[in-house]
Amino acid sequence: MTSETAASVVELKQDGDVLLVTINNPPVNALGAAVRQGLAAAMEQADASAEVKAVLIVGQGKAFIAGADIREFGKPPVAPFLPDVCNRIEACSKPVVAVIHGAALGGGLEIAMAAHYRLALPAAKLGLPEVSLGLIPGAGGTQRAPRLMGVKAAAELMLSGKPLSAKAAQAAGLVDKLEEGTDPVAAGMAYIRELLAQDAPVRATSADQSQLADKAAAHAELEALRADTVKKSRGLFSPLKIIDCVQAAVDLPFAEGLKFERVQFLACIDSPQRQGLIHAFFAEKETAKIPEAKAAAPRHFAKIAIIGGGTMGAGITVSALDAGLVVTMIERDAESIARGQANVEKVYNGLIAKGRMTEDAKVAVMARYTPSTSYDDIADVDLVIEAVFEDLEVKKAVFKELDRVCKSGAVLATNTSYLDIDAIAAVTSRPQDVIGLHFFSPANIMKLLEIVVPSKVAADVVTTAFELAKKMKKVPVRAGVCDGFIGNRILATYKQAADYLMEDGASPYEIDEAVRGFGFAMGPFQVTDLAGGDIGWATRKRRAATRNPKARYVEIADRICENGWFGQKTQRGFYLYPQGARVGQHDPEVLAIVDAERAKKGVTARQFTAEEIMRRYMAAMVNEGAKVVEEGIALRPLDVDVTFISGYGFPRYRGGPMKWADMQGLDKVLADIEAFAKEDALFWKPAPLLQKLVAEGKNFDSLNK
Ligand code: 3HC
Ligand code: NAI
Repeated sequence: MTSETAASVVELKQDGDVLLVTINNPPVNALGAAVRQGLAAAMEQADASAEVKAVLIVGQGKAFIAGADIREFGKPPVAPFLPDVCNRIEACSKPVVAVIHGAALGGGLEIAMAAHYRLALPAAKLGLPEVSLGLIPGAGGTQRAPRLMGVKAAAELMLSGKPLSAKAAQAAGLVDKLEEGTDPVAAGMAYIRELLAQDAPVRATSADQSQLADKAAAHAELEALRADTVKKSRGLFSPLKIIDCVQAAVDLPFAEGLKFERVQFLACIDSPQRQGLIHAFFAEKETAKIPEAKAAAPRHFAKIAIIGGGTMGAGITVSALDAGLVVTMIERDAESIARGQANVEKVYNGLIAKGRMTEDAKVAVMARYTPSTSYDDIADVDLVIEAVFEDLEVKKAVFKELDRVCKSGAVLATNTSYLDIDAIAAVTSRPQDVIGLHFFSPANIMKLLEIVVPSKVAADVVTTAFELAKKMKKVPVRAGVCDGFIGNRILATYKQAADYLMEDGASPYEIDEAVRGFGFAMGPFQVTDLAGGDIGWATRKRRAATRNPKARYVEIADRICENGWFGQKTQRGFYLYPQGARVGQHDPEVLAIVDAERAKKGVTARQFTAEEIMRRYMAAMVNEGAKVVEEGIALRPLDVDVTFISGYGFPRYRGGPMKWADMQGLDKVLADIEAFAKEDALFWKPAPLLQKLVAEGKNFDSLNK
């Protein structure tokens, strides 16, 4: 149990003949043990007191109740349990009214559904987001929601995890009444007066079978949802359990349905997916907690400039415009700036075509956009993001220009993928203002923003970058300067492991399939074809001079690029894309190149199972991840996890590579690396941090605290 007492987190106040129950458990009124006890005690008091005619439940602060206390999952459960508390509320002999003025999520909505009446204020958000934590609603939600909303709407609410607005919740039957205002007590008291005047009865949601009467129709709806969910939920455990539970609501009496739900809920609690998803939930909140946060308030920014209107510059522009910023885009010449603007408009035109934006809205957004070919036009901007060619000399020239024209105190950022930001900062007279903002493609969609912190940058430039991420609704991760920062550096290492696997006997298609089987959206060779093989080729050429001559180097990708096969954009790469197809076909000529390269190196191809492929792929990822943490490039292992989940398609339900390693046991991962090192000691050099943690019997998570 927490240190709070039931009385301190659930305040009871007699207001005339109404028992006012206020949940006051900051920050979001999560249903920890003390809150559960307090709510149960409130119902006892209401039943026992002759003066109490009705009960009003409200939340203090911005939320009604954000759900179960997520931090309790995985720890020994403490009574009273939430389903029992909900039943106790429903069993109260006096009418219980819940007033929802903010978030009523998960267990919070389950409490409200157990109440006899529900009133919502305009800022209410009602949802059952358990699925995003690898769970199902576990306090009667799967049984009460179908009774209030009908089978299909309830199942969809739980499967999507997305909350409904107050209005939508009323239309769906989830709330009885909407009221203007922000004060739940005043609105609730007025509603109770109305109910008491009408002699409104105690009304148990569990007893209402009206929405479940047509069993045949309900079964048909559920079968359709099941088929759709099997297709969409790709390896996730809890979505099908949601459907099973709704099915139980249709087929079984309430009490039996509740028991069924409990069994499924506990199975979800025990699943590794729950661990992975809850780790991801908290990790994404932690990455914004950085050493600079307390030291320096962000600088003001409203006007920004984007240099370069190519793939990234245009995507970043859209992201900035969507965040309400005023943007000037700079390009090299009239033709390039016209193309840059067209790239931006293409995104909005796509939204208009899909009915997700109006022409008027586009005009309003584009009014904040100015195209230009003159640096003199950005003298007064607060922040600049450079996204020109990935070439150090070109970038240096741009930063010299920025140094010349930009006002003092402007933040100067580069979107470089790999280059040395300290070297870029050094060409300016103000290295304290220079930072890396590494967006991912497509920049208006991908959530990750690596904020790369060079040695001389000022603390308030770092906090400004985090503020920008917040405005753009990105997931920020603080990274140090090195070749590739957190993400691309680790990617380069596991891509190398994939190349070794390919030369040793696995085909690129087998590798991609194994990686998809693990839960990634795409395998590494599909990613190469999507991004353009020429990009990696250029990087390999750039690194050739500094490559350790003793290191193993696989030339297969170079042979493919030498043919001009750069992937989707050239209709062939590792795969064939006839007529611009998005899904690639296996290419016998690529396999012939692979065979020829093996023969040249005297390699006899051997078989790899999908499991063997993934052991090497993941061991390489985790080992480099450990090095990145040890060198301080990533602040904590969780920063590596968030980078991969938000930017590299790592399956969220596995929690990220470092969490995955913890769940395997670090000793096992290290043993694999040591075994592989017998084949290639240079590449498979264990990270000293990994060795140290194993020696001390600790895991990566011990470094997250
Ligand atoms: N349990 C414990 N802590 C929680 C929590 C919860 N349910 N919800 C939020 N918090 C914590 C956050 O970790 C954060 O802590 P920090 O300040 O130490 O980082 C703090 O509360 C504030 O949260 P946010 O920064 O996310 O605040 P926002 O205002 O941006 O968002 C929110 C508020 C919409 C409520 C959002 O926090 C949220 O979506 N929370 C999770 C809701 C959820 O998934 N509920 C279902 C829980 S599972 C369940 O109920 C099972 C039941 O069916 C049995
Ligand atoms: P791109 O080739 O699509 O666009 C670059 C643009 O910069 C072109 O429109 C070019 O005309 C313009 N440009 C070149 N020199 C200029 C100058 N001196 N002044 C003004 N404009 C100039 O390239 P892309 O893909 O947009 O990449 C840009 C940067 O973003 C690179 O540093 C790249 O490494 C980085 N990046 C790329 C990602 C990707 O997936 N494409 C992902 C993350 C970062």
